[in-house]
Amino acid sequence: MGISFFNVTFSYPSRSEQAILNVPEWQIHAGEHVLIQGPSGSGKTTFLKLIAGLLRPGTGAIKILGERIDKMSNSECDFFRARNIGYVFQNFNLIPYLNVIDNIRLAAKFANTAEDYNVDNEICNLLTTLNVEKNDWELSTRYLSYGQIQRVAIARAMINRPKIIIADEPTSSLDASNKKVFLDLLMSLVIKHKISLVLVSHDQSLSSYFGRVESFSDINIMKKNSQCL
Ligand SMILES: Nc1ncnc2c1ncn2[C@@H]1O[C@H](COP(=O)(O)OP(=O)(O)O)[C@@H](O)[C@H]1O
Ligand SMILES: [Mg+2]
Repeated sequence: MGISFFNVTFSYPSRSEQAILNVPEWQIHAGEHVLIQGPSGSGKTTFLKLIAGLLRPGTGAIKILGERIDKMSNSECDFFRARNIGYVFQNFNLIPYLNVIDNIRLAAKFANTAEDYNVDNEICNLLTTLNVEKNDWELSTRYLSYGQIQRVAIARAMINRPKIIIADEPTSSLDASNKKVFLDLLMSLVIKHKISLVLVSHDQSLSSYFGRVESFSDINIMKKNSQCL
């Protein structure tokens, strides 16, 4: 099993314990690609952060690649995430004052992958596959175009050869043609490397790329009155 949730609830302490999530049961198999659609404010980002161990559930069990991520210490969890999970954030979260290569090297450093293979070769292969021009590799990421930033974010998510990639609305600010380029690249890499993909979005047009499409309201049974589109 790639990911499994069992009787998971979550609430932010600052919200007077009002529950945001209640996920009785949800699983994906290793290598599966799942698109989860749901409106803004329904808890999608919170759900992804629970998968990555960036948040801890109030109750229940979360297993990632057979391991109880909710039971790990913070440092175990950070290392496990760095090794196994690539995270593509909604606004990509590159470090603006580091260049392209150093943004990716930093992710590799957290996972200690240098012991396993040559990180710089891997970075070179990834950036070439993702069509990031060599002239831009030593440029601070603050100078990159939006399309380049996305491709560097994919490279960073891939550098530790993760078994799972989670992507939080990665296409929300892209026009139709950039969206297609981004998804074609991401899908070709996850298929080639047999990576599980969980991508959340409220964009209906992404469905054709995925074998499995789910509505977040079927996963999270906690209903809210204040959801908006
Ligand atoms: N750090 C936080 N502290 C308190 N409430 C939060 C925090 N982050 C998100 N929320 C609230 O949790 C709910 C779900 O948010 P989120 O998971 O970001 O939803 P989505 O990604 O579907 O838009 C929203 O009502 C949001 O305001
Ligand atoms: Mg969100």
